[in-house]
Amino acid sequence: MLFKNRILQLSLAKRLYSVHSEIRQKTIHDLMAKYHAQKPISMVTAYDFITSTWANRANADIILVGDSLSMCSLGYASTTDLPLDEFQYHVKSICRAEGTSFIVADMPYGSFESSIEKGISTAVSLMKCSSRVNAVKLEVGSQKNDYALELASELCRRGIPVMGHIGLTPQRVHAMGGYKVQGSKSISDVMAIYLRAKELQDVGCFSLVLECVPHQIAKNITSKLHIPTIGIGAGPNTSGQVLVMSDLLGMTSGKVPKFVNKYSNIGELAVSGIANYIEEVNTASFPKIGQHTFTVNSEVLQEFIKELSSYG
Ligand code: KIV
Repeated sequence: MLFKNRILQLSLAKRLYSVHSEIRQKTIHDLMAKYHAQKPISMVTAYDFITSTWANRANADIILVGDSLSMCSLGYASTTDLPLDEFQYHVKSICRAEGTSFIVADMPYGSFESSIEKGISTAVSLMKCSSRVNAVKLEVGSQKNDYALELASELCRRGIPVMGHIGLTPQRVHAMGGYKVQGSKSISDVMAIYLRAKELQDVGCFSLVLECVPHQIAKNITSKLHIPTIGIGAGPNTSGQVLVMSDLLGMTSGKVPKFVNKYSNIGELAVSGIANYIEEVNTASFPKIGQHTFTVNSEVLQEFIKELSSYG
């Protein structure tokens, strides 16, 4: 009897705490379950409510609110141009889409470098954009004294889930001398990436993005870790893959990197749809009475016409 009452209490409590949504978002445990079952984890970027709805409906394991938003959706030249408040606006929009995807928000350039305190408050502010933000992502360089390693550790210590990002880290584009494959030239470069991956795992990161690293290196690093690696330009032997949505859907007309596969050509479809609309407006063939219009009670109409005549 006591046991039955306890079950009843628990299910009541569960209902009380889940009034906002019946949809359960994926958790770190779900991602780890996939990792242990050796099933690839899928991650894709999103920019707003619409693209987030698409990604959720397509059942992406993870939606990344990446700072690639800066170039891919906001028209800036680089990730380093992106202001934190503009980024937060997009995080909130993405989180308003329903669905099960786990949501990771990037730590934008300029929002964490000045001090650990600043980094912590930025991470907290991103987590507070919505209760649907599950983790932050932090780019970490390979240099021995890279500050972001310490920040990753402090965030993890405070219970903020961190996805590390190593290899090509676009926020360090100037320090790296351009967008280049990392860990392909010397053993010291390769070892620096590997050791950084281990250190990030040791400080508590729950997963790592490996960007633009030779596929054999990515495979070996992945095999030495016990957290998932999500590759972009890192070959098929990482624990998962991430692509930027505008690249994979062909949303823009710009050139895409070698590692991208274009699964659609949304940009061309969109332009041709809009051009058809403009053409129909120009030729007065849109809108069509009956098909796109509403009607009014005929007595009201007659009266309105009569009224109008008295207005001269
Ligand atoms: O900002 C982004 O979209 C990213 C991915 C490329 C991993 O960091």
